[in-house]
Amino acid sequence: MATVTKIALGNNGPLVSKLGLGCMRMSPVWGGPSRDDNESIATIQTALDNGINFLNTGDFYGAGHNELLVGKAIKGRRNDAFISVKFGGLVYGGQFIGLDLRPVAIRNFINYSLVRLGVDTIDLYEPCRLDNSVPVEDVIGTVADLIKEGKVRYLGVSEITAGQLRKAHSIHPVTALEIGYSLADRQIESELLPTAKELGIGVVAFANTAEGLLTGDMKAPLPAGAYQHHFPRFQGNNLVKNLEKVEVLKQMAKEKGYTPTQLAIAWVNAQGGHIMPLVSMSSRSRLPENMQAMEITFTPEEMNTLNTHFSPGAILGGTYLQR
Ligand SMILES: NC(=O)c1ccc[n+]([C@@H]2O[C@H](COP(=O)([O-])OP(=O)(O)OC[C@H]3O[C@@H](n4cnc5c(N)ncnc54)[C@H](OP(=O)(O)O)[C@@H]3O)[C@@H](O)[C@H]2O)c1
Repeated sequence: MATVTKIALGNNGPLVSKLGLGCMRMSPVWGGPSRDDNESIATIQTALDNGINFLNTGDFYGAGHNELLVGKAIKGRRNDAFISVKFGGLVYGGQFIGLDLRPVAIRNFINYSLVRLGVDTIDLYEPCRLDNSVPVEDVIGTVADLIKEGKVRYLGVSEITAGQLRKAHSIHPVTALEIGYSLADRQIESELLPTAKELGIGVVAFANTAEGLLTGDMKAPLPAGAYQHHFPRFQGNNLVKNLEKVEVLKQMAKEKGYTPTQLAIAWVNAQGGHIMPLVSMSSRSRLPENMQAMEITFTPEEMNTLNTHFSPGAILGGTYLQR
């Protein structure tokens, strides 16, 4: 496997791999198949061996299970990994039930994260969302205090608006914005991405496959237990129409000798040197395919075809990531 190149996360930020490993689906979160912990740990370690140092987790992914997995995988090799942790999400019975962004809660959360991960410092610490329940000055200010105390190295934010990004950045420099981005979800191109670029903030782009829609493997209707049933884009006629759209991606993938997933990742990768595709991989077998995706380039004609065909709004129905 080729080694993944490194980029600075934001202007003058830390060096991280241009491809990030999303660990969320290694734990029982929002449904989906159950995973083998040993294989998950081996996947993280093989990723690290191949230069993928950016690991993404959240303290609410599997109620701490995800952080425990990451902790086991990096034991004895802390310096090989750049660990990104989201906090603030409250989950019960597999459902998102709210946010707790109070400074006392953040101070409590980080204690548990540090123990579960078995580290002294978290590299990138991010409120998973912002709301109006706690002044943003208090949320960002608390992370800034944790940076001063040495428990955190950099501030990140997740799933926020351009206005919130500016505000957060004015309180303490934001190193990275974690945000959903794919051929199927391009709404952020109008305001949020230009704002991140202007402010010199790195973009950690997740859901490149749009909940599997762009893998080319889906068929309508989805199997009875599929978690995607909750989202309008995977329901009824929306799914039929959306899968027709994906045919163009499948055809291009066939012509170029790659898989649709590889092109979906490559398209995100091609959107800028400051944009990192963050991809879930729960088994080592995913790594060669997704690492190879980072080497794919598009001709101007191919890029034009994809951008036109998947223009913002072309995919019918949303996911929970409606913006
Ligand atoms: N900030 C937020 O609000 C937020 C929200 C969601 C996710 N995230 C983070 O972003 C990461 C990625 O997001 P995501 O899981 O939603 O999207 P994703 O990376 O598009 O992954 C979706 C699914 O694609 C599968 N996949 C990966 N490589 C594949 C390949 N080559 N061929 C076919 N399928 C492939 C994965 O399966 P396997 O698991 O079976 O390998 C995964 O279940 C998460 O792990 C999490 O760390 C953040």
